[in-house]
Amino acid sequence: MFTDLTMAPADPILGLTESFKKDANPSKINLGVGVYKDEEGRTPIFQTVKKAEEMLLQKETSKDYLGISGAAEYGAGVQELVFGKSHEIIASHRAATAHTPGGTAALRVAADFIKRMLPGARIWTSDPTWANHPNVFKAAGLEVLTYPYYDEAAQGLAFDKMLAALRVIPKTDVVMFHACCHNPCGIDPTHDQWKQIAEVSAQSGFLVLFDFAYQGLGDGLEADAAGLRLFCVPGCELLICSSFSKNFGLYNERVGALTVVGATEDAAAKAFSHIKSTIRANYSNPPAHGAAIVSTILGDPALRAEWNAEVTAMRDRINGMRKLFVDTLKAKGVARDFSFLTRQKGMFSFSGLTKAQVESLRAKYALYIVGSGRINVAGMTRNNMDALCTAIADVLK
Ligand code: LMR
Repeated sequence: MFTDLTMAPADPILGLTESFKKDANPSKINLGVGVYKDEEGRTPIFQTVKKAEEMLLQKETSKDYLGISGAAEYGAGVQELVFGKSHEIIASHRAATAHTPGGTAALRVAADFIKRMLPGARIWTSDPTWANHPNVFKAAGLEVLTYPYYDEAAQGLAFDKMLAALRVIPKTDVVMFHACCHNPCGIDPTHDQWKQIAEVSAQSGFLVLFDFAYQGLGDGLEADAAGLRLFCVPGCELLICSSFSKNFGLYNERVGALTVVGATEDAAAKAFSHIKSTIRANYSNPPAHGAAIVSTILGDPALRAEWNAEVTAMRDRINGMRKLFVDTLKAKGVARDFSFLTRQKGMFSFSGLTKAQVESLRAKYALYIVGSGRINVAGMTRNNMDALCTAIADVLK
């Protein structure tokens, strides 16, 4: 049955990791997949995660199934991170949270829910967006459309075009926003722009879905939620997909969440019942360990403060690398102005490198960058900076 099949194309991001692992060049550098590296080029386990795991080892007494939507304390922790303590949405029980295996499962469950419960709804993503977004949404049977986002000439947000496009999206559709640290281009709306986006979204009446995968990596845990919270007004309805791969470093534990906000407690409960039946038909119920780590950290004030400091250190290192990268390219005589990189947020930036340049960086220098020119700034270190800037300077000649 399988002999006549043709090979599926490699994944643009994870496929690159596979090629990187196979590359025998000892000087290889991976700026492809969004994984944080410390100064030594390692992806460390957070100290707070280690401490939480030790606590769990003592405390855990059973490996019984979790409920379909996971543990209640995890949901409460997620909601507090997303909305802030004592938010009206939490107080009025208008939100319900399901623990999902990673942010990707949250997106897929949301997409299945949209397909099933909002027949005919199409989903709009920013142009560009994470390469896997259209993949996940199409797999659920949704039609995927795009609104303008990146202004290539200005290396900034195509704000007017974006707003004009949002104004004419029908209220029966769904629009996805990146809550912070836009993947792939690192450009987020300003607070004032978010206000206008929230206003236009409310006027248009479409359903808003947030992908919130980098909370804390832009300006801070609270600051990064500020744009999203402008949408959190009485009577609002939202879907929010969270990921804790990056801000807890729990990549391989697959910890995420899907939060549904209903106009009323009753509306939220109804929507959530369908989200649960979507999950049951998909992976039945979530794996416990990663979420238990997150709940343990969030539920212990001292650990939580220590975790916040770890996130801050990660953010500061990334921002330091942005500046060092720009300065090193300049020192190597690169004429093109890369200073836009220091204005971008989170792990990623659009380098402006062409597909041909990306290919030649890989062939000549074993420097791995996503084909779109997206670079993972969090993969840069003081040790690899010189080599990578030499390579980039060479292909830009
Ligand atoms: C990325 O964009 O590199 C990350 O979100 C990892 C992934 O799964 O693609």
